[in-house]
Amino acid sequence: MSQKILILGVNGFIGSALTEAIVNKTDWEVYGMDMANDKIESNLSHPRVNFVEGDITINKEWIEYHVKKCDVVLPLVAIATPALYVQDPLRVFELDFEANLEIVRQCVRYNKRVIFPSTSEVYGMCEDEAFNEETSNLVLGPIEKQRWIYSCSKQLLDRVIYAYGIHNNLNYTLFRPFNWLGPKLDNINSTKEGSSRVVTQFIADVLHKGEIKLVDGGNRRRSFTDIDDGISALLKIIENKDGCATRRIFNIGNPFNDVSIKELAELILDQIKTYPAYKEIAEKTTIINVGSEDYYGSHYQDIARRVPSIENSKKFLGWEPKVSLKDSLKKTLDYHLERRTSELD
Ligand code: UGA
Repeated sequence: MSQKILILGVNGFIGSALTEAIVNKTDWEVYGMDMANDKIESNLSHPRVNFVEGDITINKEWIEYHVKKCDVVLPLVAIATPALYVQDPLRVFELDFEANLEIVRQCVRYNKRVIFPSTSEVYGMCEDEAFNEETSNLVLGPIEKQRWIYSCSKQLLDRVIYAYGIHNNLNYTLFRPFNWLGPKLDNINSTKEGSSRVVTQFIADVLHKGEIKLVDGGNRRRSFTDIDDGISALLKIIENKDGCATRRIFNIGNPFNDVSIKELAELILDQIKTYPAYKEIAEKTTIINVGSEDYYGSHYQDIARRVPSIENSKKFLGWEPKVSLKDSLKKTLDYHLERRTSELD
């Protein structure tokens, strides 16, 4: 059955990739809002894509009307870069928590299904080998470590949504992306330190500065997940065959792509060297160490290692990630470097 999908933040990294997949693989209709449309440009005139430029904190009537009109709501608007958690924690709370709570409440009021982006960050400094949606503790640092305001805001919304599920029968799914990466993540032309997540930051660092900074030696580990794997899980969640995703939480991550940030930096440099136009720039790039206090300030605290258990996703969604980190980086680099080379020509 054709579904009407409301995507707030449709021009974001996840929203734009999801829209592309919906257009190509389903008969669903997208109703999307965002402040810009550059990442969904190629789908703007598609008959099943309805886009409006707007801000979720301002254009509330449009949102309420469309929550009523649609079958499924994906509120994807959030600040998700760690540097901003410490620089502007109140904006993170206002947008990631307060603005999204209003939308969740409308889903309750109009009895609509909500698919909410929780985050791998809710597990915080949990020391489990693999983080489990039902049994892992969510471990955050002291209040002065403002980095955790993002994790905490998301965690509280997870708890609110869960409670609405029990008390108001809200039909929800929480999904937790684990360091998704791909072509349209962040903006590599923004050279400002900390304006991106690590993969985009490193690519930009090579291109613009010839210097990669490893925070605290780059020995922290992340499990990087390709955007296409992430989107294939989201399509299964939206499809919700036999209610398989209803009132469940899913880690959407790739435990096979668990690497240290130092290894990531080396991989990115090695791969850039294979593009003739960028070989020299990559060879000249240096890798330096910086302390996290110098890089992010004293309100930062880090996560040592973060590997998802994907047993729930396998069991209920029949989903498993397929794309290796190398292939995912290649897709991302092809997108940026080939575009850049043609712009420079
Ligand atoms: C990210 C963000 O909070 C969110 O995007 C998201 O919810 C979640 O995790 C996710 O995508 O799963 P984090 O992985 O810490 O958090 O974000 P990055 O900025 O990508 O940093 C990863 C690691 O690289 C950190 O240890 C950081 O200190 C390090 N890093 C970052 C460097 O060593 N050098 C840099 O220039 C930038």
